[in-house]
Amino acid sequence: MDGEPRLVDRLRVDPERERAELVAGLRAAQARVSPKYFYDAVGCALFAAICELPEYYPTRTERSIFAAHRDAIARAVGRSTTLVDLGAGDGRKAAAWFDALATRRYLAVDIARDALAATLSTLRDEHPAIDATAIVADFTQGLDLDADLGAEPVTFFYPGSSIGNFEPAAALRFIAGLARHCATRAGSGLLIGVDTRKDAARLVAAYDDAVGVTAAFNRNVLAHVNRIAPADFAPASFAHRASWDAAVGRVSMHLEAMASQVVRIDGRARAFAAGERIHTEDSFKYAPDDFAKLLERAGFASIERWQDDAGDFAVFFAR
Ligand SMILES: C[S@@+](CC[C@H](N)C(=O)[O-])C[C@H]1O[C@@H](n2cnc3c(N)ncnc32)[C@H](O)[C@@H]1O
Repeated sequence: MDGEPRLVDRLRVDPERERAELVAGLRAAQARVSPKYFYDAVGCALFAAICELPEYYPTRTERSIFAAHRDAIARAVGRSTTLVDLGAGDGRKAAAWFDALATRRYLAVDIARDALAATLSTLRDEHPAIDATAIVADFTQGLDLDADLGAEPVTFFYPGSSIGNFEPAAALRFIAGLARHCATRAGSGLLIGVDTRKDAARLVAAYDDAVGVTAAFNRNVLAHVNRIAPADFAPASFAHRASWDAAVGRVSMHLEAMASQVVRIDGRARAFAAGERIHTEDSFKYAPDDFAKLLERAGFASIERWQDDAGDFAVFFAR
């Protein structure tokens, strides 16, 4: 082993400012919570369950594209043996690439500290030869990995269409930051999975499954917020809502108050009228050609793309 796996904290946020932003969002006329608050321990477990749902095609479609084109993708990635997993979660998607990419060094970046610690411990058991580092960071606040990366070529891995959580202008800025990291390390690139636009019924079902796992995932954000703000939301008194806006190419999730109610948020009352909604997540979907253009505008010169036969999902390698 190249050394014990380590967990480093690069959360450059001021916790009190973060908490104040969360509280201000909940009190705003259009109440909102950042999707990063989905991922407490229960949220991480529920997301893993969502990935197994029949309605949630992105995970299995991306997996099938990876399996069908593993060799071609590995050829595109080339000699880079350092893998930086953005929003690593349990790290399993990246670990499935270790052999094909001859990965020697793995940096798992995630905001969920507890999930990262568990991921590191699994890695130590299952991949003892990998030099692993877990980095606790909020990449919506910028991604500064200069202290963690050397001059070696790096492959950024951003699967699962998580890029869709950024609105397109912010997605462009985020990817441009990755392109700058790549530009300073020859042979680097970005391997990214992107969900495509498709018919409304399938898109909405993927975010509103028949069993109610996504509804539980959405409501759980209130349990997490209750601990942080603090607040006394009753998650069961909010209904899960998912909708598709074809004009902007966006699935949105909200929590809708099922009856009028008063919630104490950080010591002050906030009334929610029946039917009032809290915005919790946007997931932008892209036409593959538009996403390729976004990669170019972000500063990548060479772009390869792989898709499933139905065109439900797209995987890009950009350098
Ligand atoms: C939808 S999950 C994807 C997990 C895994 N990469 C996959 O594709 O299955 C999103 C992951 O990103 C992490 N995440 C969400 N917002 C983040 C942020 N602002 N900064 C860092 N990690 C974040 C979450 O904790 C979670 O593990």
